[in-house]
Amino acid sequence: NQIQQQQLIDAIHTIPDYPVKGIMFRDVTSLLENPQAFALTIELLVQAYKDKGFTKVVGTEARGFLFGAPLALALNIGFIPVRKPGKLPRDTHSQAYTLEYGEDILEIHQDALTENDKVLIIDDLLATGGTIEATTKLIRRLGAEVSDAGFVISLPDLGGEKRLTALNITPYSLIQYQ
Ligand code: PRP
Ligand code: ADE
Repeated sequence: NQIQQQQLIDAIHTIPDYPVKGIMFRDVTSLLENPQAFALTIELLVQAYKDKGFTKVVGTEARGFLFGAPLALALNIGFIPVRKPGKLPRDTHSQAYTLEYGEDILEIHQDALTENDKVLIIDDLLATGGTIEATTKLIRRLGAEVSDAGFVISLPDLGGEKRLTALNITPYSLIQYQ
C-alpha cells in the first residue's frame, strides 16, 4: 500500500550526479541501514512471491545478492548467485551483455539449476534490463523455467519492463521512479 511504499521511498536516498553527471542514483545502502525498511522490503517480496511454486531464487552480483538471499531464506528455497567473470569455482556458462558504458559478462554454475526448477530472479533495480536479459539467458541455457523477475526499484523510463516482457519475463517492482 501507499504508506508502505512511502516508507521505502523515504529510506532510499537519492544521490544526484553519481556515478556521472545527470544520473539520479537511487542508493539502496540507506535502505539496508534501516532494519524496519529492510524487513518491510523482504516482507513485501514474500507476499508477492510466496506459494507460487518457485524452487530457486537467482540474484545478480552484487546488489541482487542483498535482496535475493534473504528472500530465498524467507521462502525456504535455495539461492543461486549469478556473478561477474572468474568468481565461481565450478564449471560455468557465460553470457555477455551491454551496459550503458561498454560490455560485461555474467556467469552461472552449470550444475546450479535443472529442468525441474522454477526460478524467480531478484535484483535491487531495473534500469535498461540488460542485466536481467543476460541472467534469463543463463537460466534458460540450464533448461530451467523462468518467467518472473522482482525488484525493489524500477526506472520505467529506461525501458527495462518492455525488454523483459518481450522475453516472456513478468517484471514486478515495489517502487518506481519516473
Ligand atoms: C546495477 C543494478 C542492476 C543493474 C540495472 O548493477 O544493481 O543489477 O545495474 O541496470 P540494467 O537494468 O540497465 O541492467 P551494476 O551493474 O551497477 O552492478 P553492482 O550490483 O555490482 O553495483
Ligand atoms: N543502476 C542503473 N541506474 C541506476 C540508478 N539510477 N540508481 C542506482 N542504480 C542504478
